Amino acid sequence: MSVTVQFIAPDGTTIRAEADEGDNLLRVAQASGMNLEGTCEGQMACSTCHVIVTPEWFGSLAEPSEEEEDMLDLATGAGPTSRLACQIDLTGDLDGLTVRIPPESRDMQGI
Ligand code: FES
Repeated sequence: MSVTVQFIAPDGTTIRAEADEGDNLLRVAQASGMNLEGTCEGQMACSTCHVIVTPEWFGSLAEPSEEEEDMLDLATGAGPTSRLACQIDLTGDLDGLTVRIPPESRDMQGI
């Protein structure tokens, strides 16, 4: 089944993307041209895949792991509905999921 997700770019543009169930949100975002580095490729070691989930969708996602929460503490501009995109695999329940791409998502750890 296909799952539609929406990305709100830092400039406010909304981009819709069609994905498949089981696809990873980070990969879908990158394939849609979103500026998310995802430096560690899903190893929860960078936080450059940080996205801000819209409040109406935040509760639909599986709880973040402790490791994910620790990484989010380091993410620039993280808020109460922040998640790591690499930790979100799309399911049919997430059809319509909308996330914001933070303006600054560079890897500060590598500097
Ligand atoms: S890609 Fe590094 S934490 Fe998600």
